[in-house]
Amino acid sequence: MRELARVFDGVADAYDAGRPSYPDELFAALAEVSGVDLAGATTVDVGAGTGILTRALRARGSRVVAVDPSAEMLTRLVSRSGEEGGTAASAAVRADGNALPLADGVADLVTYAQSWHWLDPVASIAEARRVLRPGGAIAGCWNLTDARQAEWLAAHEALLAEECPAYWGQALEEWSVPPIAEAFEVVAERWIPWTRLAGIEEFLLGMRSHSYMAELPPQAADALVERRRAELRRTFPGGVVSVPMRVYLAVGR
Ligand SMILES: C[S@@+](CC[C@H](N)C(=O)[O-])C[C@H]1O[C@@H](n2cnc3c(N)ncnc32)[C@H](O)[C@@H]1O
Repeated sequence: MRELARVFDGVADAYDAGRPSYPDELFAALAEVSGVDLAGATTVDVGAGTGILTRALRARGSRVVAVDPSAEMLTRLVSRSGEEGGTAASAAVRADGNALPLADGVADLVTYAQSWHWLDPVASIAEARRVLRPGGAIAGCWNLTDARQAEWLAAHEALLAEECPAYWGQALEEWSVPPIAEAFEVVAERWIPWTRLAGIEEFLLGMRSHSYMAELPPQAADALVERRRAELRRTFPGGVVSVPMRVYLAVGR
């Protein structure tokens, strides 16, 4: 578990400050295709990290059990648990999503927000099925930049691919969304487009929070961020970056 958590332990602050939340349309689509009413549902949010999805689910009335092996990520989740409203009770559990410390049949929904690709593809889904009630649903979602929509973003992703040996993303021909849809009988897959507006520094923190950046030597990461800052200031002289995004959602049972 320590090994799994280590990469995110190192980027928890950048993650907390620099990663975007999810658009409202994601929650509408999730409720519609899962058949689960988020208000009053019990959700196990696996790989909850700093709680981006956890908070959004709580704000919509879900009781959420947030599970993550990273103590640093969970610390941010707990310290921000009063934000964005939400009256339902929640719990944060430091654990491996491949072996959930939860009883059988307790959840209406198991979510993996940008996290399922970090887990074992078979053990994780077996665990999700075990903790779900009959009629419950499993949902994976990934908040992705959409480089097809903006030249500056395509160039940005291409540079990351070039400079970060561990880069995995859309600039690589062999990249595709994680194959969670193959892991269960899929009820639905949806692509939800939206636009993120972020200050340049916020955008750069989000960039730093990716595992492929965390794996660069610190000086190389600093130099890359500095070059991107200069370029972004030229492209967005007003200081606000407009980032085309799309969320991939797969829901199954
Ligand atoms: C990219 S972050 C996603 C965080 C959050 N869900 C979000 O939407 O921003 C991936 C998270 O998965 C967690 N993770 C990695 N391996 C895991 C495992 N085996 N079980 C549960 N969570 C895991 C990491 O610690 C990290 O917090």
